[in-house]
Amino acid sequence: MKPVRVGICGLGTVGGGTFNVLTRNADEIARRAGRPIVIEQVAHRSLNPECDLTGIQTTTDVFEVARNPDVDVLVELVGGYELARELVLTAIANGKHVVTANKALIAVHGNEIFQAAHEQGVIVAFEAAVAGGIPVIKSLREGLGANRIEWVAGIINGTGNYILTHMRSEGRAFEDVLAEAQALGYAEADPTFDVEGIDAAHKLTILASIAYGVPLQFEKAFTEGISRVTAEDVEQADNLGYTIKHLGISKRTDAGLELRVHPTLIPKERLLANVHGVKNAIAIMGDAVGPTLYYGAGAGAEPTASAVVADLLDVARDITTDHHYRVPYLAFSGIGDDDGGM
Ligand code: HSE
Repeated sequence: MKPVRVGICGLGTVGGGTFNVLTRNADEIARRAGRPIVIEQVAHRSLNPECDLTGIQTTTDVFEVARNPDVDVLVELVGGYELARELVLTAIANGKHVVTANKALIAVHGNEIFQAAHEQGVIVAFEAAVAGGIPVIKSLREGLGANRIEWVAGIINGTGNYILTHMRSEGRAFEDVLAEAQALGYAEADPTFDVEGIDAAHKLTILASIAYGVPLQFEKAFTEGISRVTAEDVEQADNLGYTIKHLGISKRTDAGLELRVHPTLIPKERLLANVHGVKNAIAIMGDAVGPTLYYGAGAGAEPTASAVVADLLDVARDITTDHHYRVPYLAFSGIGDDDGGM
């Protein structure tokens, strides 16, 4: 069967991981997708030593990929707001499906992007935007689709959790552990997003939009990070029987939906207190299913690539069967209408 042809824009940590997972597991992926998924073109600013680009068409201009008639799906891994927005809208205007790991893009420009995708009849998939390799968006949208979601609460920034974990277990200073998380490729290009709670607020905004069927409303989330948490705070909390974790919480209240991210004291024996390092964990309460928990690597090259490639599989299946029942933007039934009282 005709392959699905992919253009990867960005060959940094996640781009490199995506390239390698797609290449290494090509046979298995083709069997699951029902057709091969091949890399048609890669746009990159600098070479990634982890990737062998032999025989691959390359460019330094991401817009070349967005306009390439031989590309069916553009994978946006350049990050940031404006360039990514322009790139994705250009790809959509050129009839391409889009897979992105960019939570900032989806949280802030998602309503516009989904509307454009809807008008063009293309798919925009973004599993990798929230909680790295944990398939929490697919779980919310598909597995929990029968439920009225009451609340969502979790650790959704791997860098922040890595910092808090190592401050607690090794008594290390905040800046020292942050530098390590950056070296490991966990942190955002601007680590302020991680430590000031902005990255977690982006992710919570996306989760809430799907959980409650409301438009994306990033500006309404209360946002506080971990930059003011000291080694002494961590030690004092420990002495009192608590662990400090940075949580994203959304819930229905009498006044409407509430979205907030901030450091939280959690009793040591609770599950979320025992999520360590770069791991994320998200608890979701549905009225039918009750409490559920999703756990795994929240950042890093291949865990995030795992989610990017899962979206490529979804796109491949959907365009093969012509069934757009998995189209992510259908989750946003309230676009432009009800804001859930936020
Ligand atoms: N900087 C993000 C984190 C990357 O640490 O969670 C994954 O979204």
